[in-house]
Amino acid sequence: MKTILHVVGARPNYMKIAPLMDALRAVPDVRQILVNTGQHYDEAMAKGFIRELSLPMPDRDLEVGSASHAVQTANVMIRFEQVCLEERPDLVVVVGDVNSTMAATLVAAKLLIPVAHVEAGLRSFDREMPEEINRILTDQIADLLYTTERAAADNLAREGVSSERIHFVGNVMIDSLLRHRHRAVPPAETLAREGLPAGFLDGPGGFGVVTLHRPSNVDEPASLRESLAILCAVAARLPLIWPVHPRARSNIERFGLAPMLSGVPIVLLEPQGYLEMLGLLANARVVLTDSGGIQEETTSLAVPCLTLRDNTERPITVEQGTNTLVGRNRERVLESVDEILATGGKRGRVPELWDGHAAERIAQHLAGWLPRRERTREAIHT
Ligand code: UD1
Repeated sequence: MKTILHVVGARPNYMKIAPLMDALRAVPDVRQILVNTGQHYDEAMAKGFIRELSLPMPDRDLEVGSASHAVQTANVMIRFEQVCLEERPDLVVVVGDVNSTMAATLVAAKLLIPVAHVEAGLRSFDREMPEEINRILTDQIADLLYTTERAAADNLAREGVSSERIHFVGNVMIDSLLRHRHRAVPPAETLAREGLPAGFLDGPGGFGVVTLHRPSNVDEPASLRESLAILCAVAARLPLIWPVHPRARSNIERFGLAPMLSGVPIVLLEPQGYLEMLGLLANARVVLTDSGGIQEETTSLAVPCLTLRDNTERPITVEQGTNTLVGRNRERVLESVDEILATGGKRGRVPELWDGHAAERIAQHLAGWLPRRERTREAIHT
């Protein structure tokens, strides 16, 4: 029997681990353990996803919560090390680029436990993003690197990673999207649940969807003010629905910017569940975002996406998908919105292997890899 320990912690992790745990159930002699670091802890940011995606309840909850990057990372490390010493896994699986991903990888590597990183090799080449630091460090010390697009292998090669560690498998986040799309909640239902004015969606033009949470867009008063000004300008053309991340919500209040949004056709919602979000994205005329995952989801859904950043670690969504980088340039955003409203925008095509079977490919690879892994790592026992 081999033990695989999966790590989730923040909202974008759950939809990546769910299809993988599912696919690994078909591999004989594998025991799976789910560890939730608790980097996100609100019902809407964490536990709700566990239910919606039919993930098992976590076997371990580390309850690290919010803190500075150093404190949050350190707390994951201290608590995760204890779990590794008790469970002695044969493999630790981490996904994405959040602090929990990097912290768990560092712990496992020091205990000589192999690590598989799902969604490896993505690079924005912007080291001001905390996620970029997490990506680089995780990929340097993880053993198995599962990638979502071919460019990832070039990025890893430039950092000296040998090609035997890299496996191009496709996109597990899209596995979840394709699996659950038919259960997406219609936007009218989501808005009604939030007690919104009947008729908000009745206009002929449809609606746009917004998500913003990157430090570069919401953490400084000046940049958040500019983000809101951009949204207000867009809302003059198309009503917007904005499920607001807690970080952005608290900064709008803290910086006294709420009045900018009053009387503007922008509906602020609490963070939404996965199926509500799928319904909103699938029916939007345009999505404005700074999220990595949403750039991928809109490409899969063939919905035009304007990314309010200067770079993306997911270039395939621009080259092949529906994504356009518009930075934080108001003119550029408005031109792009006008074009999308006039022409429907980029239709794009679905990237290679974003076909709903990435998790199966990982499981198949691990089914061959696990029996070859010898437990020679005495450090685990000490
Ligand atoms: C984290 C990830 C980011 C990911 C995002 C998705 C890192 C470095 N960043 O950013 O890559 O795209 O999650 O949401 O790991 N908060 C709550 N409730 C919660 C969680 C957070 O209110 O359940 C608030 C707290 O005030 C907290 C703030 O949001 O301080 C930021 O949370 P944090 O986990 O530090 O980073 P995110 O911005 O969510």
